[in-house]
Amino acid sequence: MLLGGKVAIVTGAAQGIGRACAVRLAKEGAKVVLCDISTEQGQRTADEIAATGATAIYVRCNVAERGDVDRVIAAAINALGRIDVLVNNAGVLDDAPFLDLSLEEFDRVVGVNLRGAFLMGQAVARQMVRQGKPEGESQAGAIVNMSSVNAVFALPDHVAYSISKGGIGQLTKAMAVALAPQGIRVNAVGPGTIETPLLKDVIKDTAFRSKVLSRTPIGRFGQPEEVAAIVAWLASPESSYVTGTTIFADGGRLPLNYVVPVAEGS
Ligand SMILES: NC(=O)c1ccc[n+]([C@@H]2O[C@H](COP(=O)([O-])OP(=O)(O)OC[C@H]3O[C@@H](n4cnc5c(N)ncnc54)[C@H](O)[C@@H]3O)[C@@H](O)[C@H]2O)c1
Repeated sequence: MLLGGKVAIVTGAAQGIGRACAVRLAKEGAKVVLCDISTEQGQRTADEIAATGATAIYVRCNVAERGDVDRVIAAAINALGRIDVLVNNAGVLDDAPFLDLSLEEFDRVVGVNLRGAFLMGQAVARQMVRQGKPEGESQAGAIVNMSSVNAVFALPDHVAYSISKGGIGQLTKAMAVALAPQGIRVNAVGPGTIETPLLKDVIKDTAFRSKVLSRTPIGRFGQPEEVAAIVAWLASPESSYVTGTTIFADGGRLPLNYVVPVAEGS
């Protein structure tokens, strides 16, 4: 097990990629704190993980609110004693052409995706610094931010989202260099198109599927578990010399220029 006895917080853990991360970290031996604004679903996911014999608790938290963030830290310390891992996964998507994008929508998306990752990252890093390195270990903690291929690409109808994910790339680098002296590593995972509830409506659309697959050399959508596997590795001492980087799990989209043929019926 990669994370035996460690305590991990996962944000946006009720469903999708965050859920898969919480499940995988628990399988790797971590005690998991699931944060989400979706109380019913968050509690259900925590209960499902706890039913496997792992330790999992749900704490309601809007990552864009400092009060909520402070409450999660306090709840984690109170219940589990320390924090070793943070997965900053909570994310939302705007959907409007650039000329129609409202300031409220811009603030909402950047508020959750970037401000939320900063708030959680800073609060957890402060706690990790207070704790110091466990005896005999070289690492005081690991933080994994959820980026996207849209940290590099730009989407005309998801401007706030693209900006927020670009910001996650720099947040990851800046936090990594700031926290390296304290033994805290900070990395990011940048998924391509992953089959989650975030994409539940568009993913059924044949034209959308064809567009995505024409830009995906591996020839299929990704699964949340394939992202979670990288998160678990980045959270663990197995990646002890990796910090400040983004690993893209995108089926080959970033290296591809132009398009690839799409298999019929896919
Ligand atoms: N699905 C993809 O193809 C894809 C691709 C690239 C990046 N990502 C990123 O992965 C992350 C997870 O995406 P997903 O597809 O699993 O999405 P999802 O919509 O299925 O799940 C997101 C979860 O975050 C929670 N959430 C939303 N706002 C929150 C807030 N303010 N505070 C706490 N929790 C909040 C939601 O309730 C939900 O449970 C996001 O950061 C997203 O940008 C997803």
